[in-house]
Amino acid sequence: MFPKNVNIYEVGPRDGLQNEKIILPLKLKVEFINMLSKCSYKNIEIGSFVSSKWVPQMENSGELFELIKKNPSTSYPYLTPNYYGAKTAIEKGIKTICVFTTASESFSKKNTNCTVKESQKRIEEIVVLAKKEGVKVRGYISCVLGCPYEGSINFEKTAQLANFLNEIGCYEVSLGDTVGYGTPLEVKLLIENVFKYIDVDKVAVHFHDTYGQALANIYSALELGVYNIDSSVGGLGGCPYAKGAKGNVATEDVLYMLDGMKINSNIDLKSIVKVSWFIHKALDKMPSSRVAFALGNKI
Ligand code: HMG
Ligand code: MG
Repeated sequence: MFPKNVNIYEVGPRDGLQNEKIILPLKLKVEFINMLSKCSYKNIEIGSFVSSKWVPQMENSGELFELIKKNPSTSYPYLTPNYYGAKTAIEKGIKTICVFTTASESFSKKNTNCTVKESQKRIEEIVVLAKKEGVKVRGYISCVLGCPYEGSINFEKTAQLANFLNEIGCYEVSLGDTVGYGTPLEVKLLIENVFKYIDVDKVAVHFHDTYGQALANIYSALELGVYNIDSSVGGLGGCPYAKGAKGNVATEDVLYMLDGMKINSNIDLKSIVKVSWFIHKALDKMPSSRVAFALGNKI
């Protein structure tokens, strides 16, 4: 059964900009986020507290939080890989943080320099702190439909990690197809596995579009009732530690599909297309979204 309403979780300022060659000046990042803030999102993930040696593009993430014009109806989560990152975020007054792990030992090492078990230990420490401070925690699992270093990933292992994140108190678990290997029937099998442990309300999908499968994969998730969808304006995105990973599914492409399916997202397609052209001009590149081109940059 398709849901009637969906929550679009925008990751452009974080997942999008973390993978760009250009490090965007703070002023432009602020302008970008302020434009997105006018688009009625419930969540815009705007940065991460990670080592700037690992991801220099996110270095000025902390300053953003003070500079942006916040929409009172929008939350601005940050990605935090360890206790230090979480503590810094919480001290800044950030109310939602995101932790991340994976069932792939190799990806865990490449992305966060720790084993999967160690990443779970880090997450437990973060969640204890967050609970004490009244901060919400979102959990990500990467490489759920394949890993650039290990190939296919066992769905049951991912489902058990989803269970772990849910049981320790993450309000939502986002299933990340980091490199975009997945196809719709695999998405169905993966989500059915995850549903053995956690409710549909707690599941989000986060598809990268490397092989052009992301919209079809979202359709597959929608068919199972999943209504929390991560996307990135213009299809920006990628993970610097996942070889070959391209952008996330483009927000405007998702909105166009949802409009056609009469599924409500509360977000205006044309406004997103405007933001998409704005940020791509700033990055001196073209959007990968087909809808951005179809509607053009004059709307
Ligand atoms: P490490 O080198 O093992 O850490 O990295 P360390 O504890 O030895 O510290 C090294 C240096 O980093 C030290 O500085 C620390 O102070 C500093 P130095 O003494 O050398 O000057 N440091 C920090 N600085 C700022 N914030 C912090 C922090 N922690 C340590 N939180 C670490 C371990 C986890 C830090 C590193 O591996 C890292 O930052 N990894 C992040 C990688 C990343 O951001 N990847 C992309 C995001 S995940 C993603 O995109 C997937 C997702 O979209 C879902 C999907 O698509 O699947 C979420
Ligand atoms: Mg991602």
